[in-house]
This record gives sequence, C-alpha cells and structure tokens, in this order.
Amino acid sequence: MAEPVRVRLSGLKKAFGPKKVLDGLDLTIEKGTSIVILGRSGMGKSVLLKHMVGLLSPDAGKVEIDGEDLWKSPSGKRNNLRSRFGMAFQEGALFDSMNVGENIAFPLRRLTKLKPADIKKRVAECLELVHLPGIESKLPSELSGGMRRRVGFARAIAHQPEILLFDEPTTGLDPIMTDALVRVIDELKRRLDPTMVTITHDLKVAFSIADRVALLNNGRIVADLPPREFESSRDPLVAAFVRGDSQLDPDAVD
Ligand SMILES: Nc1ncnc2c1ncn2[C@@H]1O[C@H](COP(=O)(O)OP(=O)(O)OP(=O)(O)O)[C@@H](O)[C@H]1O
Ligand SMILES: [Mg+2]
Repeated sequence: MAEPVRVRLSGLKKAFGPKKVLDGLDLTIEKGTSIVILGRSGMGKSVLLKHMVGLLSPDAGKVEIDGEDLWKSPSGKRNNLRSRFGMAFQEGALFDSMNVGENIAFPLRRLTKLKPADIKKRVAECLELVHLPGIESKLPSELSGGMRRRVGFARAIAHQPEILLFDEPTTGLDPIMTDALVRVIDELKRRLDPTMVTITHDLKVAFSIADRVALLNNGRIVADLPPREFESSRDPLVAAFVRGDSQLDPDAVD
C-alpha cells in the first residue's frame, strides 16, 4: 500500500520584491521518505524549506501537512503542525544567550513532557550522536562553525520529530565528521522512519541518504527521481548538475 502523503506543496509562489524565487512549485513527499533537494546557490532551497515548516508564507499556492492546509489552519493548530518538525538551519540558528545544553533542551521543554532528569539525559545522548559529548555548558560563541552546525542538528532531532528538515547539514565539516553525520542520519532513518528533507551541495551525501533526489531550478522542481536514476539521467539540467556544470543560471527566473 502506498504511504500517505506527509507534505504536499502545490503551486507555491514566493517573490522578494521583483525577485521570483518560487514560481508555481509542486512537490509531494510521502511519509517515511528521505528526499534530498539539490539546486544552485541562491535558487531558493532554504526558502523552500522555510515554507514547509511555516516560517515563510507563500504569495500563492498551498502547503499541506498530513492533509491540513498550513495557512488555513488557526494559529494554534499551525503551531501544532509545526511541532511535528525538527529543522536544522543552514546558519545553525542557535540562541546565542543560551548555552549548548539549554539550546538542545529547548524543544524538549516546549514540545515534550519529559522530566528534567530525562531532558538532561536526552541532551547528553544527542551531543554524543554528533560527536560533541559534554559540551553542554559552552556558549554558541565559543564554538566553531562546524560545531554550531552539529549542535543545531542535535537540537533538530532531540524531540524525535516525525519530519526532519536539514539545511546543508554537512557543509563546512571535514570528511570524517561528514561520514559521522551521514551515519547518524542513516540510523535515524532506520530507527524512527521519519520523513526527511535534506538540502546539500554534496552529491555523495545526497546519493547515500536519499530515497529520492529532486532538483530545484528557476522556481520549480524540475526533476524528482530515485538516486540511481538521477545520477544517470539524460535530462540536460540534471546531467549538467551531476557533472557540476554551470549551465544552471541562478538569475534566469523572470
Ligand atoms: N527573507 C528574505 N528577504 C529577501 N530575500 C530573501 C529572503 N530569503 C531569501 N531571499 C532571497 O531568495 C533567494 C533564494 O535564497 P535561498 O536562501 O533560499 O537560496 P539557497 O538555494 O538556499 O542558496 P544557498 O545554496 O546559497 O544556501 C536569494 O536571492 C535570497 O537573496
Ligand atoms: Mg540555503
């Protein structure tokens, strides 16, 4: 039996001033699917992810989570829908005034009924998962960019959400840490069967964690294929992307 649809984006449009970023984008993600979204820098990948979690509202089109229209729901319900997500932001987006432990505990306090001792344990486990054990009392300003990114990742997965959104989780990490994070993602897939949307520029990462690989170009999803098919696709845009050509023009949306 086909899995139910978890996230459906239809006819999504978003412009910032004269710049059209999303231009009638359609994308359907079934429950338990890991989809990787590729696309040139500035194409709107982060903007797309922020629409899924309701941080940006579309100019036109619909965002549905488990069949519920995110922007037709009353705000209480919208927050409820949002709590199903865990998102690791591209820029880390840690709360600067909170230490690492408090950052990771934040969604646990807000979204779960865990007792303080269990929260502490869960925070420690999440830090171990990202190979940063025992750094609870450090402030974000004391960490390197890669460390902040991993703490952001730990915070996104802490409450074991049904839908995980990772914006460039491995960018700036060394190959060993990249492999470690890919293993954590694999483990999450096996253990929790989440619906996962990952943005990455690293094709190796993409092909190792994806059930489907999608290409965002000029405001739309122009390809959405299983990794093997994506890699060997003869579609000119996909093939150019896989080869690393600069044929995909970021300024071509008009
Ligand atoms: N809040 C905002 N206000 C105005 N413009 C924005 C805003 N957010 C994004 N943009 C613009 O939308 C476009 C897409 O940005 P986005 O961050 O989604 O790109 P991206 O595909 O994630 O790029 P990268 O690979 O570099 O992370 C860019 O031109 C950016 O300047
Ligand atoms: Mg981005």
